[in-house]
Amino acid sequence: PTMLAMAATSSTPAGMKTPDQADSLVTRYADVRGWSKRLVEGLQTEDFLLQSMPDASPAKWHLAHTTWFFETFVLAKNDPAYQPVSKDFSFLFNSYYNAVGERHPRAERGLLSRPSMDEVWNYRRETDERMAAFLTSEPATEWLSIVELGLHHEQQHQELLLTDIKHAFSRNLLKPALVTDPLATKNMKTVEARWIPFDENVVEIGHDADGSFCFDNELPRHRVFLEPFEIASRLVTCGEYLEFINDRGYERPEFWLSEGWDAVQANDWEMPLYWQETENAWHHFTLHGRQPIDLASPVCHVNLYEADAYARWKGCRLPTEAEWEHAAQIELEKETAIPQWHPQAALDDEDRQWMGHVWQWTGSQYTPYPGYRAAAGALGEYNGKFMCNQHVLRGSSCATPASHRRPTYRNFFHASKRWQFTGIRLARSC
Ligand code: AVJ
Ligand code: FE
Repeated sequence: PTMLAMAATSSTPAGMKTPDQADSLVTRYADVRGWSKRLVEGLQTEDFLLQSMPDASPAKWHLAHTTWFFETFVLAKNDPAYQPVSKDFSFLFNSYYNAVGERHPRAERGLLSRPSMDEVWNYRRETDERMAAFLTSEPATEWLSIVELGLHHEQQHQELLLTDIKHAFSRNLLKPALVTDPLATKNMKTVEARWIPFDENVVEIGHDADGSFCFDNELPRHRVFLEPFEIASRLVTCGEYLEFINDRGYERPEFWLSEGWDAVQANDWEMPLYWQETENAWHHFTLHGRQPIDLASPVCHVNLYEADAYARWKGCRLPTEAEWEHAAQIELEKETAIPQWHPQAALDDEDRQWMGHVWQWTGSQYTPYPGYRAAAGALGEYNGKFMCNQHVLRGSSCATPASHRRPTYRNFFHASKRWQFTGIRLARSC
């Protein structure tokens, strides 16, 4: 009801480019905040506090932290007399902003039985009301950009919420399903993979200054020289990855980066996260519970080491992020599939699977683009300070909200991480 009221009373604040944009931000705020609520409809009360590892956060924490973002970076900054909904929430729900202050330890977010879920829902409601008042108070454009950042931030956390609850549920013998409708396994035939060739070229990558949203790490757009290369027309499938496993890929150090081989030994990795072999059948844990593996579907929950080892076993390599972006920009219009809770097999020879299935590991380290500048102040911590010891992932996954996907998007994780929807696209030099 709050959001409906908000949409109905929205006017055209000064400093906004068009009345359309004022309305669209109000609508988008309602949509994105509402989607977070929808995502957790399948959770039971006890599920909200689960934290299965330090990398993952409880759903409850995601719902509060995304709210804290609007309170801290929009509401409090605009009102010198701002009274927080609770004075403790900044300590509890600040993720990593040193400029904002001290915080509760990340690995112990699962201990926050208080505030209760009722209080967290109230925090969201109260903040939404304050944001509604703010958005209709004719805020300056710079603040609208931060609201938009806050919405994209919430969409990032929607994906994390799903991957985190998937990880937590996977550790339960009961193998609970977040999504109760059946996984749309179409028993597809595996579409033949082709090589798409690209000549040597000076190309441009990075986000265009076209007014649409991007994170700071996608800027500035700049030139890159590409040697001739070929990139695969679709993602690596579970069936193809199984050939690597059956060829003793996890037992042969010659395919692995040194760090990767050490991690394979230390963690006894023998297959992707969530896979399980039982009497000649392969299953994996999904958001639909435990399911048979569809061999035509893209392999996922592999880390950079596994993706790189698979590529080397195949006599190929991973694409660089510049190769990926250039190829996707040219080939993007041929996209056909819109999967939801799990990556799906390529539909036909035109289905490139750039977006909406799995994030694709690139061989590129996550470093600043030439000329990159982090914003001043706390929000400068958003992306820039992580540009060390992380690899870039491109595309987007089945857990990425559709309005959060774009070909210039630079996701990043450490090479060892496997709990995101991460998969493999091959490339090779010519
Ligand atoms: C880009 C997915 C690595 O998980 O910390 C969330 C996204 N940034 N809040 C992360 C993010 C701020 C980020 N990743
Ligand atoms: Fe965050």
